[in-house]
Amino acid sequence: MFAPTFIHRFEPGTKTEAIPLLLLHGTGGDENDLLPLGRAVAPEAALLSPRGQVLEHGAPRFFRRLSEGVFDEDDVRRRADELASFIEAARTHYHIASPMALGYSNGANIAAAMLLLHQTVLSGAILLRAMVPLTTVVPVDLAGKPVLILSGAQDPIVPVENAARLSDLLRAANALVEHHTLPVGHGLSNEDVAVVRRWLQDAVKATRSPTP
Ligand code: MLT
Repeated sequence: MFAPTFIHRFEPGTKTEAIPLLLLHGTGGDENDLLPLGRAVAPEAALLSPRGQVLEHGAPRFFRRLSEGVFDEDDVRRRADELASFIEAARTHYHIASPMALGYSNGANIAAAMLLLHQTVLSGAILLRAMVPLTTVVPVDLAGKPVLILSGAQDPIVPVENAARLSDLLRAANALVEHHTLPVGHGLSNEDVAVVRRWLQDAVKATRSPTP
C-alpha cells in the first residue's frame, strides 16, 4: 500500500516514453507551483510534485538552512534520503520510470544533493538557479546522466562562481552537463522555459536514438 510520506500532486503523462518530471519548488512554494512549468516544457510527461517538509517561518523548503546560502548539511543529507525513498515508492505506485528532476532554487539544490547522494534515483536533472548543496561528498559516478544548469548573471542569491563550481563538480562525476548563464536574476524568465523545452526535446531524442 502507498502511504505517501510527502504531500504531493501527480499528473499522469499521455505518452509512456516521455521522461517523467520530478518538480521541486523553491522556498515558499508548494506542490502546485511548478505544474504549469512542467506542462509547458514536457506536455506529454507524467509530473510528480512533492511539497518540501521544512518550514522556515511558515515557508516550505526541502531542507534547513542556517542563513541565506549557508545550509544545514546534516539536514540536506537526511532530507535527500527521505525524498529519495518517497520517489521510489511513488514510482512503484504510479508506474513511472526514473524521473528527471526539474528544480528551482531550493528545489534545484535538493535535486543536486540527490544526484550526489542517490545516483540511481534520478535519470537526470534540470537545475534552475542552483548552488553547491554540500561541501564534502564521496566521489560518485553519474556517467551518462544529462544535467542542465541555468544560472542568472545578476542573481543576488547564487554567485556565478558557486554555480560554476556545481557544474564542475557534476562534470567531474561524469554527468553530461550543459550550463548556461542567462542575462537574468534569481527569478525564472521566458528564456529559461525556452531553453529547458529545447534541451528536454534533445534529451528525449538522445534516449531514443541507437548509439552508433
Ligand atoms: C536555498 O536556501 O536553497 C537557496 O539559498 C535558495 C533559496 O531557497 O533561496
